Amino acid sequence: MFKTSLKALACALSLTIAGVAQAAETASAPIVIKFAHVVADNTPKGQGALLFKQLAEERLGDRVKVEVYANSSLFGDGKEMEALLIGDVQLLAPSLAKFEQYDKSIQLFDLPFLFDDLAAADRFQSSPQGKALLTSMEDKNITGLAYWHNGTKQMSANKPLREPSDARGLKFRVQASQVLEEQFKAVGANPRKMSFAEVYQGLQSGVVNGTENTWSNYESQKVHEVQKYITESDHGLIDYMVITNTKFWNGLPDDVRSELEQVMAEVTVEVNRQADELNQKAKRAIADSGKTEIIELTPEQRGEWREAMRPVWNKFEGEIGVDLIKAAEAANQP
Ligand code: LMR
Repeated sequence: MFKTSLKALACALSLTIAGVAQAAETASAPIVIKFAHVVADNTPKGQGALLFKQLAEERLGDRVKVEVYANSSLFGDGKEMEALLIGDVQLLAPSLAKFEQYDKSIQLFDLPFLFDDLAAADRFQSSPQGKALLTSMEDKNITGLAYWHNGTKQMSANKPLREPSDARGLKFRVQASQVLEEQFKAVGANPRKMSFAEVYQGLQSGVVNGTENTWSNYESQKVHEVQKYITESDHGLIDYMVITNTKFWNGLPDDVRSELEQVMAEVTVEVNRQADELNQKAKRAIADSGKTEIIELTPEQRGEWREAMRPVWNKFEGEIGVDLIKAAEAANQP
């Protein structure tokens, strides 16, 4: 009898010790933050994700571990938002073209020829209307932490695109955005939604004949190797919203969250400072490769593209909101 209770006591003790050890381990285990994205490391977003990891881990020691997954290696387009919502990934930075299911007003950023340059996009993003979009999806459990620039888009094809009629009948890859579909329909082309990871192969195999993207995305995905011409059209924008799962973010210990917010603010300044530089570097590399001819438009030719694509604005002003469009246009005045 005495022997049995001793045995039971020993068993209970060892269970307790194991429990305490496990609890201690859990208490000291770092918070893992997975940051997934679809582009290469040597792009504005790729660099931003790596800098965020570096600074967050430097400042928070072993309390936080940031894992960066580039090039759609964890989740690609189409899957990443769902993954964020179910907690399989904690940070994403989708292009602003990829939010139409969650907030139609973010379609604003896809309107062709909206911003004169990146500085104008910057002014709008830091305005009260721009900032309000960061929190507009919280009822859907998505919180925007920052806007990051990539840059302006250029058009590419295997034939020179100088005038809108040159695009007629061509199949263009677009991001998952109705505005971008309409933009290409406006010039008589056939848009095809395709995830970023499939672009190179889509162009190589001829499933699509052309596309639009920034210099850094063209160069890092080697798209210029399968496109003979890139027209420097600067007709639209690829920028990002860095997003997190609202419940996850609000559930972080207060001191960790505020440190991460500080880090995000610093990284944002750096990404936005470097973005244009990285795109210009990529443009030079494409030019030096000799594989693609870069076409410059005359102001008249660019005006024709603008005029041809501009009717797209009317189609979406109801969903986006006229006031928001006006606020964005006003940002073109410094
Ligand atoms: C694209 O799909 O072309 C871009 O959104 C990729 C990116 O994240 O820059």
